[in-house]
Amino acid sequence: MNDPRTAGSTSNATPQATEPGAPRTPHVTQVWREDLAATRVELLRGLTAAAAYASPKFLYDALGSRLFEAITELPEYYPTRTEAAIVDAHGAAFAQAIGKVGTLIDLGAGNCSKALRLFPLLAPQRYVAVDISVDFLRDALAHVQRQHPQLDVNGVGLDFSSRLQIPPRSVQGRPVFFYAGSSIGNFTPEEAVPFLTSVREQAGGGGLLIGVDLVKPTEILEPAYDDALGVTAAFNLNLLLHLNRLIGTDFRPREWRHVGLFDTLRSRIEMHLEARHALTVAWPGGERRFAAGERIHTENSCKYTVPRFEALLQASGFARGHHWLDEQGWFAVFWAPA
Ligand code: AVI
Repeated sequence: MNDPRTAGSTSNATPQATEPGAPRTPHVTQVWREDLAATRVELLRGLTAAAAYASPKFLYDALGSRLFEAITELPEYYPTRTEAAIVDAHGAAFAQAIGKVGTLIDLGAGNCSKALRLFPLLAPQRYVAVDISVDFLRDALAHVQRQHPQLDVNGVGLDFSSRLQIPPRSVQGRPVFFYAGSSIGNFTPEEAVPFLTSVREQAGGGGLLIGVDLVKPTEILEPAYDDALGVTAAFNLNLLLHLNRLIGTDFRPREWRHVGLFDTLRSRIEMHLEARHALTVAWPGGERRFAAGERIHTENSCKYTVPRFEALLQASGFARGHHWLDEQGWFAVFWAPA
């Protein structure tokens, strides 16, 4: 997410008129332009707040995306493999509940591995992968197209953390949104309702398939966000290097400690970066002093019960659908008709 880009510019702008049997090329549309001035204002507002914070979207530069991929393979981080197990166990029931899929729209697609599991089950006519990191997406889509040469594969580079607007021309036939990995947990419930409402508005005639992490004992939750190898710590600390590049701060990651704690009252994991000793962070035009132990809040990961998430879907205007759980009841996949 570092390259300045042009709003609405496209690569391979004309959908390929593919000869029968000829290899297709994924069509990628960039509808997001990084505005460095706005990013600076946003970040400095967070850094200078009484309780400092930075949006979790700044966890994902090129290295951050790779570190997150590594997190999904950690023994302590159960969500990715638990969700995959639900898809494997209940695929036929998914297909029956969901019905015909015109376009499968994969929000926060990353390496597209989660959607790949759905193709044999849902047989979409078109696949649209949406992600903030368009370069990462391009490589992933080339891989998807090689595996599914006849599928109509498309990418949309979009930062949907503040507003979701899928270009209407990207969607053909009945739309089914897919939001995997409990990424909805990175919104607070108050933020999630307007986001889910905008998904529902764009999913007319179709619906949303969404993975949601459930409340469970702290002894399982906390190690998932503070693993023995320190990969999650590196993922969190890397945000400081990303900020140094974006706005010229002089953070030294060694002076900070990763914190990942479950807040039972708010039912969420909170990630923070904590100053190991009193220090000053400077940037062109300003500085801030942090006392020893003072923190920067970098992420929430909300955990739901099934009824609480059903209430959120209802508040966002979805009709009643279905949900499936893994054997331990750790994770749920919901089908919510729009
Ligand atoms: C992307 N998101 C769903 C992850 C989560 O579990 O909240 C991000 C993450 N943060 C630390 N580990 C994983």
